[in-house]
Amino acid sequence: MARILGGVSTSHIPSIGNAIAKGLQNEPYWRPFFDGFNGVHQWLAQVRPDVVVVIYNDHGLNFFLDKLPTFAIGAAAEYHHADEGWGLPVARPFPGDPALSWHLINALVADEFDITMCQEMLVDHAFTIPMSLLWPGGGAWPVRTIPICINTVQHPLPSPARCFNLGRAIGRALDSYDRDLKVLVLGTGGLSHQLDGTRAGFINKPFDLLCLDRIVHEPEALTHYSVLELVELAGAQGVELVNWLAMRGALTGNVSRVHGNYHIPISNTATGVLVLDNQPIAGDAKRAA
Ligand SMILES: [Fe+2]
Repeated sequence: MARILGGVSTSHIPSIGNAIAKGLQNEPYWRPFFDGFNGVHQWLAQVRPDVVVVIYNDHGLNFFLDKLPTFAIGAAAEYHHADEGWGLPVARPFPGDPALSWHLINALVADEFDITMCQEMLVDHAFTIPMSLLWPGGGAWPVRTIPICINTVQHPLPSPARCFNLGRAIGRALDSYDRDLKVLVLGTGGLSHQLDGTRAGFINKPFDLLCLDRIVHEPEALTHYSVLELVELAGAQGVELVNWLAMRGALTGNVSRVHGNYHIPISNTATGVLVLDNQPIAGDAKRAA
């Protein structure tokens, strides 16, 4: 049976990729951010996942405004990055797991989530940078990957509650998978930030800290916000928090916080990282819907 080890959530700002490429991790500006990943590396070395389900939002590399699915999933044997601009180096390809992708697709559609299935899919910085933060150093990726995209770009966006429930459906699907696999769920984006308009540079530390607490112990409390309330509280791009909520929804057992870090700003964004351990509930690893 597949076993959901836990979840990690992290910001995915493009400048992080440039800092990695230039080896700036120990510079004073960057160190408080990159040091926040030491605890992630220690936990990953203990739990050693086989597969990572990466929940993120595409920024125009694979999907553009002409065709933008609310939810999409990759079903490829390999995923490629491409030149996005910003001087970002192109990441090496990521291995997929088509058998698990098709299991998730079948389970999600049966669970009333009509997800767009992509047998070819480019992955952008919201996927590649978190992967590089979790497994730095180059070489072959030690995990297979399943990309799942949530539209946080073109309104109307799915509600926080809908994204949390998508995560729950992903968790149920993983719990029902009969291959012996250790699975990590990764949610990327946020925290509070706004890139444009009169509130460009907006950061809301009290709301970020509230989210970092609630997502561990009381994630349902975050599902009561509307999308527009989330824009007001977290910024126009801070709505990427829904990716974290979907990650949290996928954790079907007893969840505890292993590690976390919050640092402002990187670029003009509040950054956070969180590691959540997921222990199966005794006698019933599958949480009721
Ligand atoms: Fe983003």
